[in-house]
Amino acid sequence: MLLLAVLSTAMMGQEAPSAAPVVQTSAQIRAAAAKSGFVGNTGCRNCHKHDAIWNAFPQNPHFQAKNGCESCHGAGQAHVDAGGDIDTVVRPFSILKPAEIVASCLSCHAKEFNRANIRRSEHTNHDVACTSCHSIHNAKSPRNLLAKKDERELCYQCHTDVRSQFDLPSKHRVNEGLMSCSDCHNPHGGSTPTAGMGQSSKMLNKSHSSEQPCMKCHVDKRGPFVFAHQAGEIDGCTTCHKPHGSTTSKLLSRPTVTMQCQECHTGSGPFGTRNNRGITTPDHANHSMVDPRYQRCTGCHVAIHGSNVHYRFLR
Ligand code: HEC
Ligand code: HEC
Ligand code: HEC
Ligand code: HEC
Ligand code: HEC
Ligand code: HEC
Ligand code: HEC
Ligand code: HEC
Ligand code: HEC
Ligand code: HEC
Repeated sequence: MLLLAVLSTAMMGQEAPSAAPVVQTSAQIRAAAAKSGFVGNTGCRNCHKHDAIWNAFPQNPHFQAKNGCESCHGAGQAHVDAGGDIDTVVRPFSILKPAEIVASCLSCHAKEFNRANIRRSEHTNHDVACTSCHSIHNAKSPRNLLAKKDERELCYQCHTDVRSQFDLPSKHRVNEGLMSCSDCHNPHGGSTPTAGMGQSSKMLNKSHSSEQPCMKCHVDKRGPFVFAHQAGEIDGCTTCHKPHGSTTSKLLSRPTVTMQCQECHTGSGPFGTRNNRGITTPDHANHSMVDPRYQRCTGCHVAIHGSNVHYRFLR
């Protein structure tokens, strides 16, 4: 085999360029086709006329693209000359590798994704290419050429476990259609860990240019507060809340408010020993954890996200 290959290469080197064409691989045919020249949409229509593809194309935003069909599929002269051999299609998306698809689409769309950085997103890293979510010729959504009518059905195809999270007793109303995944996520990826959310990227959208997505809607939790609760400074809102859904009310991540607080305010020794502002000792609250009165922490510490008037968040 190897010998044959070497021989044929050697022969090709000797032969005059006018010789009958040697058998080419699909890749070689494709490379040659790419240089073959553009025929324009009408050239394609001659054969792809009765296709749903052609009929839907004038409504497609890509109808405006400079080279029409060929702006994505590549120069079509060789394909037309060959009478429609699939090997002569420069970019036959149905058989391209995910990385090749991403590269083709980004040849035009890269500038919109300068912040999103899709090349390094979790999706791209796991071979989820543009065409896993978008359908150019068979779009089901009125906008964004999505492969499903509804964004969340698109996501649930692969993220089945997330659907049930949005059916828990406390939840954001995504399954009811009041919110969508892309209110918080950027399916094209987030380039940097989201500010205020530790190292978690999770492809989150940023609000106010660099903050947690939650701030877009819950502006009242944004601060800055005169007395901020330092609890959320590292991992943000998800220190205490589940973003999708929870069995505990108010989307809390622990079964009770008390347990939520005791994750950090352990109750051992003088209560709240975490205090490092030098104002601990004289006015230690005598919270007895056996006294049920003290169980409902946020009954007294009402301004739990931060306060402008009281350093213990009592009002
Ligand atoms: C002479 C007729 C003819 C013309 C003109 C023609 N095609 Fe085709 N095309 C075909 C046929 C036949 C096939 C099916 C080949 C196969 O399945 O092996 C095909 C297949 C394709 C495919 C499918 C590749 C895949 O992924 O399955 C694409 C894309 C395509 N053509 C694009 C174009 C574009 C763009 C033009 C205009 C530049 C064009 N065609 C012009 C006959 C034609
Ligand atoms: C924006 C890029 C883009 C443009 C412009 C485009 N196509 Fe496609 N085409 C695709 C992708 C991507 C696929 C793979 C199927 C899919 O994922 O929707 C495809 C698939 C096809 C196929 C294979 C059949 C199929 O449905 O899988 C044919 C034939 C085809 N295109 C012809 C055309 C013709 C003719 C035009 C112009 C009227 C055109 N395409 C314009 C991206 C494009
Ligand atoms: C030749 C350049 C070019 C290529 C290649 C290209 N696009 Fe586009 N795309 C455009 C233009 C131009 C628009 C319209 C822009 C606008 O309306 O702002 C567009 C719009 C879109 C939209 C938005 C549709 C809407 O309803 O607003 C999506 C989604 C999209 N393209 C996906 C893709 C995917 C997926 C690929 C690869 C299969 C691709 N594009 C390849 C130029 C291109
Ligand atoms: C995991 C699914 C998914 C993948 C993969 C994906 N997209 Fe999208 N895309 C969406 C969704 C959902 C929207 C609409 C919501 C939004 O704007 O975030 C969208 C919107 C768009 C838009 C229109 C809105 C805008 O931001 O300008 C374009 C253009 C686009 N995508 C292109 C692409 C390209 C190009 C790729 C591949 C490089 C790609 N998408 C990969 C899901 C996806
Ligand atoms: C209210 C904002 C919000 C909405 C809406 C939302 N997410 Fe999330 N999602 C997040 C946050 C924040 C994280 C990161 C959680 C963490 O790091 O603890 C996350 C994490 C994830 C993860 C990573 C796996 C995991 O559980 O850590 C997946 C997958 C995911 N979301 C999918 C979805 C899908 C699919 C939808 C729509 C059906 C959706 N999300 C809607 C905020 C949201
Ligand atoms: C074709 C399958 C597929 C579709 C469709 C899809 N995803 Fe994913 N998604 C994956 C895979 C694979 C991963 C990486 C492995 C994992 O975390 O499960 C992933 C990861 C994620 C993550 C976690 C990122 C991280 O940093 O851990 C989020 C968030 C996410 N997807 C959101 C979405 C949203 C929102 C949509 C709909 C717009 C969507 N996905 C559509 C397959 C898909
Ligand atoms: C697109 C707007 C939007 C975004 C972004 C958003 N939320 Fe919400 N959130 C709401 C709405 C609206 C409600 C009201 C509850 C409902 O819909 O039933 C709510 C309710 C809540 C509740 C109270 C739940 C209850 O049971 O009363 C918590 C806690 C919460 N959100 C936390 C978050 C966190 C944490 C984030 C970021 C990961 C976030 N939200 C992002 C819109 C948003
Ligand atoms: C130290 C833990 C903690 C952190 C961090 C935290 N929360 Fe809360 N949050 C709570 C508790 C506890 C409640 C329930 C209060 C109660 O019992 O009424 C709550 C309630 C809420 C509610 C519903 C009630 C209301 O006040 O509107 C929303 C919305 C909310 N949080 C959003 C956020 C957002 C957005 C962030 C990030 C900026 C955040 N939370 C960070 C503990 C926290
Ligand atoms: C992730 C850890 C964490 C969680 C969970 C947490 N806290 Fe805190 N809390 C802190 C830190 C850190 C401080 C700042 C301590 C300091 O000022 O020295 C603080 C400060 C406080 C203060 C003010 C103390 C003072 O004198 O400065 C009160 C009151 C308080 N937390 C109540 C609560 C309540 C009630 C909950 C439950 C809803 C809770 N915390 C949940 C970490 C946490
Ligand atoms: C009955 C009202 C009430 C309840 C319930 C309550 N606290 Fe307090 N807490 C206070 C008051 C009042 C102070 C301030 C004491 C003072 O200024 O003398 C305080 C102070 C604190 C401090 C800061 C002082 C210190 O000792 O470091 C922390 C931390 C704290 N509480 C956490 C909690 C947690 C966690 C819970 C729930 C397990 C809780 N509190 C339940 C009223 C309450």
